[in-house]
Amino acid sequence: MIRHIIALISGALTVAAIVYMAKLDIEAEKLKKIEEIIEKSKLEVPVAKTTQPIQQQQEEEEESEEEKQLKMLKEKAGNMSAFEVSPLYRRNCASCHGVNGNGAVGPKLLGKSKDEILQALKDFKSGKRKNYVMYGLLSNMKEEDLISLAEEISQFDEKLKAAQ
Ligand code: HEC
Repeated sequence: MIRHIIALISGALTVAAIVYMAKLDIEAEKLKKIEEIIEKSKLEVPVAKTTQPIQQQQEEEEESEEEKQLKMLKEKAGNMSAFEVSPLYRRNCASCHGVNGNGAVGPKLLGKSKDEILQALKDFKSGKRKNYVMYGLLSNMKEEDLISLAEEISQFDEKLKAAQ
């Protein structure tokens, strides 16, 4: 009886081992195929290079153009990070007037004097100058906030130049 059980178990183990080995084989086959594909794609690149030198040259030019643009973007990003605004401006105003006051949905604020900006803000807040958006935004702001915003925005121009 025991012998039968042992024979049964070892039989089962053998089957399991065979299945396992077969699976490994399939995996190995897949890997081989992937390797072949990689090998093929490696081969195709030098062929394209030698038979189409003009096209390749163009590609290289495009690449350097891309590199230039990337460099410009990086420089811009650098400038932007050097350009810091107060949380008050960033949270309430930047979405419409741009992170540096350059305008977007709202008009460009760059180049305006502190007095001009403050007057505009006061007029929006009092309703003398009618704009629903600006009125809603400013209705909860204190006079000090308006003053500090006006002061900050009026300095954007110089800050931008300093960052460039
Ligand atoms: C949802 C968009 C939006 C947000 C946010 C916003 N504005 Fe405006 N802002 C406008 C629009 C639109 C105008 C033009 C209104 C008009 O001229 O009648 C404007 C006009 C202005 C003007 C007058 C500009 C000019 O040329 O006379 C100032 C100054 C200004 N906003 C400052 C701010 C400040 C400071 C904040 C943050 C507290 C702010 N804005 C937030 C949309 C926005």
